[in-house]
Amino acid sequence: MPRLERLTAAHASAVLEFERAEREWFARWVPDRGDAYFTAEGFAARHAALLAEQDAGACRFHVLLDDDARTVLGRFNLMDVVTGEDGELGYRLARGATGRGLATAAVRKLCALAGASLGLSRVWADTDVHNTASRAVLARAGFGPGVPVDREGKPALRHARVL
Ligand SMILES: CC(C)(COP(=O)(O)OP(=O)(O)OC[C@H]1O[C@@H](n2cnc3c(N)ncnc32)[C@H](O)[C@@H]1OP(=O)(O)O)[C@@H](O)C(=O)NCCC(=O)NCCS
Repeated sequence: MPRLERLTAAHASAVLEFERAEREWFARWVPDRGDAYFTAEGFAARHAALLAEQDAGACRFHVLLDDDARTVLGRFNLMDVVTGEDGELGYRLARGATGRGLATAAVRKLCALAGASLGLSRVWADTDVHNTASRAVLARAGFGPGVPVDREGKPALRHARVL
């Protein structure tokens, strides 16, 4: 059974492998991270920066690991966490892992953690208006239907769940 683990330095090479393998798939749905991100140096710097943000309490990152406890199937993150207030949820799943309910289960788990361990009262997530799969995941995990917002100049839907 795949399991969610808090991101550490030890996950770096597996996460890079995942991002490289799924780059084309993710770029269909979310902005591409840019060539520099996928180089060994660029990725190492970015991974270290994420861990520093996590240590400071601003974010909480997770990887969804396959049964081999090494292969990354997905990433599920809480960003801009403000204790007692809210945080932004973001996620991505390997194309081959979709359609099994893994994203819904992981989002539900993250919401439980956000309320119980991080003390958040609300979690929100933006989706592209055409991202039906992502909107279905959020609906099943108890998020609202989505309010139109402008996200970096592009129309998006903001879904929120009160914890
Ligand atoms: C969003 C994502 C995590 C969903 O993964 P998942 O849980 O495996 O989603 P599924 O493939 O099971 O699809 C979820 C639902 O949407 C439906 N769906 C999927 N693609 C669809 C499409 N193109 N049109 C209509 N419905 C679609 C599925 O039928 C399913 O509904 P059902 O269970 O009621 O049948 C995954 O697709 C992903 O990581 N995509 C790329 C990155 C991304 O979009 N991240 C989210 C950014 S907001």
